[in-house]
Amino acid sequence: MDEFIYEDTKIKLYNEDCLKIFPLIDNESIDLIITSPPYCMGKEYENTSDDINSFLSMNKKVIYEAQRVLKKGGNLCWQIGFHVKDSVIVPLDCLIYQIVEEINKTLSDDCKLYLHNRIVWSFGHGLNAEKRLSGRYETIMWYTKGKEYLFNLNAIRVPQKYPGKKYSKGKKAGQYSGNPLGKNPSDVWDIPNVKANHIEKTAHPCQFPIAIPQRLIKALSRQGDIIMDPFLGSGTTAVACIMEKRSFIGCELKEDYVSIAKQRITDAIQGNVKYRPDVPVIEPDKNQKVAQKPEEFKW
Ligand SMILES: C[S@@+](CC[C@H](N)C(=O)[O-])C[C@H]1O[C@@H](n2cnc3c(N)ncnc32)[C@H](O)[C@@H]1O
Repeated sequence: MDEFIYEDTKIKLYNEDCLKIFPLIDNESIDLIITSPPYCMGKEYENTSDDINSFLSMNKKVIYEAQRVLKKGGNLCWQIGFHVKDSVIVPLDCLIYQIVEEINKTLSDDCKLYLHNRIVWSFGHGLNAEKRLSGRYETIMWYTKGKEYLFNLNAIRVPQKYPGKKYSKGKKAGQYSGNPLGKNPSDVWDIPNVKANHIEKTAHPCQFPIAIPQRLIKALSRQGDIIMDPFLGSGTTAVACIMEKRSFIGCELKEDYVSIAKQRITDAIQGNVKYRPDVPVIEPDKNQKVAQKPEEFKW
């Protein structure tokens, strides 16, 4: 286990199968779990034999353990996309939903996992499909353990499009109609994914951007809380924890990825981790040559 201490927070990394680490973690001791499991479709960190059945069996075991270690009132976020084979897709969040429903049948009401949002994470770039529409979103299933839970909306409000808008009639006529702290970011988040030119890109093939765990951490935990990512990858959730002053436990099978995570954690502690701030995506400047339509394009 590698441990980093930063101000009042501790970051623990295990280069190990998460299913071997969960038994070391006490019941109801974690405040927030954020993860993105393998999609079981032939990535370099997967077994070639992995398929939908492997996905189901792994996620059943991991979600069962995640529910056990999560505090009552804690939050669980499963970031997930699609299993794609021969242009046929399986929306993996539907399987996660079924798995949680099955686990919930065995639990008392105050320990059940309740789904509050299926956040659509949209992004502008990715593979261009030929036999179907190009996929440009994945989802984040946000559950809480029990019905009383922490949700700090003010921590993640975003600027309104028209902040100067006022009520035109009624008792509030003349007053600004928007919340001065900004608006609810909604359940559709447009955040660039980490492809080749993204500033956060490492050698890991499937990172999510820091802005995803960072938003979830701000809204769903408090400073000093303990956060876990059982499928750590390149350490993105750990980096977001350092930025937001939360403690962290992460597990990753592959040593190469743990090394990447350790470097990013060190950079984050020193305040120089590569990071795309969580700001709205801007439309291309039409004066730029690359943004202009070539003569021979037909559209
Ligand atoms: C989709 S990636 C996570 C990427 C991560 N969110 C990031 O931003 O870098 C899933 C990761 O889980 C790791 N993994 C797969 N099975 C595991 C297991 N049983 N225990 C721990 N890690 C595992 C894989 O090696 C891979 O790096």
